Amino acid sequence: MKALILAGGKGTRLRPITYSLAKQLVPVANKPVIEYGIDAIVAAGITDIGIIVIEPNSPIEESCGDGSRWGARFTYIVQPDPLGLAHAVMTARPFLGDDDFIMYLGDNLIKSSLRDLVDEFEENRPAATVLLTPVDNPSQFGVAEMENDKVVRLEEKPKEPRSNLALVGVYLFDRVIHDVIDQLKPSRRGEYEITEAIQGLIDRQMTVRSHIVTGWWKDTGTVEAMLEANRLILEDVVTAQNGTVTDSQVDGRVSIGKGAVIQNSTVRGPAIIGDGCTIVNSYVGPFSAIDKNTKISDSELEHCIVLQDCEISGVARLDGCLIGRGAKVKRVQQKPATMRLVLGDSSEVTLP
Ligand code: TTP
Repeated sequence: MKALILAGGKGTRLRPITYSLAKQLVPVANKPVIEYGIDAIVAAGITDIGIIVIEPNSPIEESCGDGSRWGARFTYIVQPDPLGLAHAVMTARPFLGDDDFIMYLGDNLIKSSLRDLVDEFEENRPAATVLLTPVDNPSQFGVAEMENDKVVRLEEKPKEPRSNLALVGVYLFDRVIHDVIDQLKPSRRGEYEITEAIQGLIDRQMTVRSHIVTGWWKDTGTVEAMLEANRLILEDVVTAQNGTVTDSQVDGRVSIGKGAVIQNSTVRGPAIIGDGCTIVNSYVGPFSAIDKNTKISDSELEHCIVLQDCEISGVARLDGCLIGRGAKVKRVQQKPATMRLVLGDSSEVTLP
């Protein structure tokens, strides 16, 4: 079996971060989102992995490399126009050939292992297996209508959902899916929808199996979802102490990276502080992920993702923030006490 990771797309819901960083590379607990998917696929025994990207020599390729880090082989497949998930499969056809494959959305995080799914697929050989999970807002997802445990209908972002079971971003297919995709037309929103392709399998009386996901699943496409994913991953963070802690209190599970300095501060886990960070006269609260070489002084924050090389100084209290690489948030003593903001397009600032 091969794997196809979808790491193209526009990432409009995560702007302005995605103007300069593919959303699959945004770190959750200081590790790019896509690497969780790669870990899960490799752990399921799949090492021949195609990765959909929007351009040749993409930052995703630069970051993930040729796969040798995972003992795997990566093939990068360029899909310049993100015309839908089924279009990505179409684009990857030369790589996929006639092999079975698992398709994994590169911005998704799933807690449960994929191994049993793969084994079950290979044993039962359905045309497709989809993963489902109950959600509160089904009209924002692909939704499955079930009869007993059989999928009888799939609909993309329905106005009037017939169930609360959303499609999770992991699918298994055999080669028949290509025959259906070859006949697909773009949907009303102009995309080649994978839900319509799977519906095509159902219409042709092919077997589509489903699995209800028991562990958590997160699509990290929005800031709220990204913060929630960060919280879930940090729930399992392992304590590590590779830095220097002086006159400080470190409570709970906190991973402190190499060369990090924590001075006269309180860090309350679960949290992760990356290599080379400096935390001085500050409070870093639960569910914070601070990426490498970021400096925090005279500040308080919690439940935040702060990317690398940032400077936060004299600011209290940040909560629920996603701060991009190299950003500076500083309080200065000046008169008049005005605010000076240099914000990228589509930035969002919430003031008390
Ligand atoms: P989406 O989150 O549905 O789409 P998007 O990335 O364009 O985001 P937004 O809606 O915020 O603009 O995509 C899910 C995953 O699939 C994501 O990792 C991007 C990837 N993808 C492709 O690789 N090719 C495509 O044509 C599309 C639509 C998505």
